[in-house]
Amino acid sequence: MKESTMHRICVIPGDGIGPEVMEAALTVLKAMELDMEYYPALAGNACFQKLGTTIPSQTVDQAQQAHATLFGAVTTVPGQNSAILTLRKKLGLYANLRPVKSYPGIDAIYPDLDFLIVRENTEGLYAGWEEYTPVGAQALRVVTRKASQRICEFAFNQALENGFKRVTAVHKANILKKTDGIFRDTFYQVAENYPELEAEDLYVDVTARLLVKNPQHFQVLVTTNLFGDILSDEGAGLVGGLGMVPSANIGDSNALFEPVHGSAPDIAGQGVANPTAMLLSVVMMLHHLKEEKAANKLEKALLIVLKERRFLTPDLGGNSSTLRMAREVQDNLDAL
Ligand code: NAI
Ligand code: MG
Repeated sequence: MKESTMHRICVIPGDGIGPEVMEAALTVLKAMELDMEYYPALAGNACFQKLGTTIPSQTVDQAQQAHATLFGAVTTVPGQNSAILTLRKKLGLYANLRPVKSYPGIDAIYPDLDFLIVRENTEGLYAGWEEYTPVGAQALRVVTRKASQRICEFAFNQALENGFKRVTAVHKANILKKTDGIFRDTFYQVAENYPELEAEDLYVDVTARLLVKNPQHFQVLVTTNLFGDILSDEGAGLVGGLGMVPSANIGDSNALFEPVHGSAPDIAGQGVANPTAMLLSVVMMLHHLKEEKAANKLEKALLIVLKERRFLTPDLGGNSSTLRMAREVQDNLDAL
């Protein structure tokens, strides 16, 4: 019997604009008629109100059993467990890829950007060890050689796969001598196995300045958890805002795809969220599933809408709804 090519997709819409951009993305994805089955699952604040947990074990199981997970966004309330951090940890999603690209038609600060932020996703200041002390509070910054090696190898491999020539390690080893010292030294050890690629390191503050002043310099950046989080929002600011940047969370046996943005309570419920970041996250998922043809087709259909500025959402200077913009992408699919 022929081996089934069906993909099981776990779908976690979440809170705020999460379900809105997810509905848009699924409308387009389902119109592509790929061999996929969708399994909806709960997470986030609305889930907490209903079930008393932000991330039920059924959701973790669903995501573990799926070939890929699509995640919208969740609202994180102080005192509640972060659903996305828990999923990243439980699924072993150690690499967070955040491609920052400027697209024709979109009002970006720089029109010619194309770089990839590779963020270590399991440790750093997100290891979850934070506690109150008699005088305030303290958090533990965890950097292991193993995780540093794994993420640096991942970054160099991404550079090779995507035709980039330079990998930049971003750190603060002048102050964080031990943790970031290990990260930087491991980076250069890994770099020895990739003689065809240029390897350099920069302090995170220098990187933040260069991202504003000369972002064309960057190709692949690899960094620890918190720096990657901050620099990817900075990257989004360069290419038209948070509605434009997708991400992939990759592990050895699981993968989760989500926009970089959050649940955007300021615009939630209005149906005007930009679906681009979610759609580009779907494109990354399709590449991951080796559905190259579908991935390229969806990206092309979306880029036409952006380039011709047809039915864009308000953050991009248009006045269309999330679903109207998505329908335009879908209509283009038929024409391609
Ligand atoms: P946010 O990304 O939700 O919003 C920041 C700003 O960008 C807002 O003005 C928002 O309207 C705008 N924006 C974001 N996505 C947009 C889109 N697709 N289209 C148009 N405009 C968009 O970040 P914020 O406000 O700091 O956080 C809101 C909530 O989301 C918080 O509870 C936060 O913890 C959570 N969050 C969740 C994330 C996740 O689920 N992975 C990631 C980041 C934040
Ligand atoms: Mg963030």
